[in-house]
Amino acid sequence: MIHNGIIENYSQLKKELTNLGYVFESDTDTEVLLNFIEEIKKNNNCGLEEAVRIALKRVTGAYVILLLDEENPDTIIAARKGSPLVIGVGKGEHFLGSDASPMLEYTKEVVYVNDYELAIIRPDELILKNLGNEKLTPYVQKLDLELAAIEKGGFDHFMLKEIFEQPQTIYDCLRGRLDAVAGTITMSGIQQYADQIVNANRIVMVACGTSWHAGLVAEYIFEELCRINVEVEYASEFRYRNPVIHKGDVIIAISQSGETADTLVAIENAKQKGAIILGVVNVVGSSIARTSHGGAYTHAGPEIGVASTKAFTAQLAVLTMIALKLGYLRGTISEERYRNLLTELEQIPEKVAWTLQQSEHIKALAEKYKDARDFLYLGRGYNFPVALEGALKLKEISYIHAEGYPAAEMKHGPIALVDDQLPVVFVATRDAYHEKVVSNMQEIKARKGIVISVITEGDSHSTDISDDVMIVPEADEILAPMLSVVPLQLLAYYIGVAKNLDVDKPRNLAKSVTVE
Ligand code: M6R
Repeated sequence: MIHNGIIENYSQLKKELTNLGYVFESDTDTEVLLNFIEEIKKNNNCGLEEAVRIALKRVTGAYVILLLDEENPDTIIAARKGSPLVIGVGKGEHFLGSDASPMLEYTKEVVYVNDYELAIIRPDELILKNLGNEKLTPYVQKLDLELAAIEKGGFDHFMLKEIFEQPQTIYDCLRGRLDAVAGTITMSGIQQYADQIVNANRIVMVACGTSWHAGLVAEYIFEELCRINVEVEYASEFRYRNPVIHKGDVIIAISQSGETADTLVAIENAKQKGAIILGVVNVVGSSIARTSHGGAYTHAGPEIGVASTKAFTAQLAVLTMIALKLGYLRGTISEERYRNLLTELEQIPEKVAWTLQQSEHIKALAEKYKDARDFLYLGRGYNFPVALEGALKLKEISYIHAEGYPAAEMKHGPIALVDDQLPVVFVATRDAYHEKVVSNMQEIKARKGIVISVITEGDSHSTDISDDVMIVPEADEILAPMLSVVPLQLLAYYIGVAKNLDVDKPRNLAKSVTVE
């Protein structure tokens, strides 16, 4: 048996089996489940398929299991609950995995298995059933992906390739949706819920990690453009907190993989309470996409590096379009500002391309600072979540301790850390808070800290104060995070490489966190 996930009631099952004389060789829940299935098979004098079906009715938790019986070595029994399971359909062969993209080399036809379904797989046969033993018709989907999308394409790492893909991925995300000349945004997966969203009292964004940071940026944007109350929740907290949800509340689930267990359960709970769920998801056909009522794909293409980069900027692009559309429909944004933002949004891909030209300069900064023990990342307003994201990227890729903070919070504690060894990265593009951020930089310099700033082109004042700068082009403050995050992604990447670390697969991390 191959098992991904957690069997929550395994200790109870283990007790029952131990009483029956079973002896365990490991402490794993996997061994318990396997023996439990074996016991049912013996006790009921039935085949493996029947035993799995009976067993799963008693099992709680999130899992995918694949079983091979030595008496029938050409048959795999597979089942899932809460964790992803994709079956690739080939010619006289099948492939099983948690993600469709690795199957591309062999087949473009896949079947996504749903919770409480059982698949019986033979080389030339795929039978799908529910736990009540009723046959279901497998829905075979065609993958709209090319093999090149999951290859490195001449880059040293997927992470670098994905950082450099951002001009194209943001463009792909806007394409066919944004028309700056006509002044329109077309998002069909949102359109059908337009009335409910326009009339909602609040919007709740649920996500984890980098996607949560995208939600935080979106909170600022929605509140500014739509004058609507927005809350951004860690999915892992939201799912257990018995949150107050009213019928018609709008929940936006943000996820690259579309398989993050906490986010998935959080929206399932909210859905049961009558909320409208919109997914901002990258992986087409993923569990969160399928569970959501509507939403918009981010179209960033497969993201293989464990550290999320291009998915983040694509999430920001989608969320900004939703906010612009909603602000326009609610009448909370002037025609002039709306039009200007559409035009500026359209220019973001080329501004990201401009920013990427500094990669050699950022590589040199990485060499200079790679031995620092800690980093502090600071920003205000729209750039505060970018500071959090910059710190997360550095932690993940370089294993250097990094903290993100709102710049003004510094004096409430973190300033005690500042000395001549501490690099402080300011996300300080020109915006309404700029003068205040510059004052914060001076406070760091006064305490002999090292100031590295992400600034807007032409900002000579910040350049003078900073030890080093990374420059982005001028942009409306609402759109600036899509630019200011790029140098921070590169800095984390090059520090990880300079430290000779496996940047695509950092230790202890998984690309999709399909268990809680
Ligand atoms: O697939 P998701 O966007 O739902 O994943 C959420 C987080 O697990 C993910 O963003 C994680 O924090 C990344 N490793 C960040 O780089």
